[in-house]
Amino acid sequence: MSSFLYRLNAFLRFWLRARTVYQTHSPLAFEWAQAVLEDERHYYAFEDIEVLRQRMRASPLILDVEDYGHVGEQERPERRRVPLRQLAERSSSSALQGRWLFRAAQQLRPQRVLELGAGVGVGTAYLAAGMGPQARMISLEGCATCAQVAEAHLDMLHLSERVSIRSGPFTQTLTQALQDSGVLDLVFFDGHHRGEATLAYFEQCLPFAHDKTVFVLDDVYWSPDMTEAWQRIQTHPRVTLSIDCFELVFVFFDSALREKQHLLLAPTRWKPWRRWV
Ligand SMILES: C[S@@+](CC[C@H](N)C(=O)[O-])C[C@H]1O[C@@H](n2cnc3c(N)ncnc32)[C@H](O)[C@@H]1O
Repeated sequence: MSSFLYRLNAFLRFWLRARTVYQTHSPLAFEWAQAVLEDERHYYAFEDIEVLRQRMRASPLILDVEDYGHVGEQERPERRRVPLRQLAERSSSSALQGRWLFRAAQQLRPQRVLELGAGVGVGTAYLAAGMGPQARMISLEGCATCAQVAEAHLDMLHLSERVSIRSGPFTQTLTQALQDSGVLDLVFFDGHHRGEATLAYFEQCLPFAHDKTVFVLDDVYWSPDMTEAWQRIQTHPRVTLSIDCFELVFVFFDSALREKQHLLLAPTRWKPWRRWV
């Protein structure tokens, strides 16, 4: 099955089974869904970041990138020439994902944030804008050119003081980033879309998570292999609540939750009749 068909099929299965905030009984999940999925407030930061995306879409620039996309642990990245507009359209967080990231950060008020996969800095900017001026983020990016572009974008958005972008493969940068952070309040996994690698990074970050930490993952429906990794994360003994919103998934470790729960939650506008039934 092609990647597109796999994703479409996964979305239909998700949509049929998903609940909305109106059918959510867990207080933590209810609060999270209200804040992240349902809040319709608009922020100037959204416009600024989307203007930047429009500029990238209109740009004639072709970049020399090291494509880490799907390479194995020991493989070297492929060198490719990629239009900047393609990185803005296909490899960056969408506006919807960006708003969820912003609101997740706003809700959690993290002090220490880690991102695996900065790309050209779109998701990084949404997170950095939402997390507030006192918080600090380390964002790891394998492709040196993308890291430079991401840095320039954060500078334009006046967010560079909050974020340090570190260039190099995760296998070389993650350990140091974890040591420097010490403890993590929010982690966004958005690079190296292979199941085994995702599980390895998840395990490596886990000792730095505390009761209120939230892990966010993108692309769990990219491939069967990524979906399997996501299912294994849901059943991990330290995970007490997992919320699958299809476009992004959220993992909680709050030990005060008595029963482990896994929820499929869609924004109410995806199922408007759920307001009443
Ligand atoms: C989907 S893009 C990130 C998009 C970005 N987080 C956003 O929200 O706009 C994934 C990025 O991860 C990087 N990446 C993938 N595998 C990597 C690895 N093993 N080490 C370092 N970077 C990697 C890629 O170079 C790519 O730029």
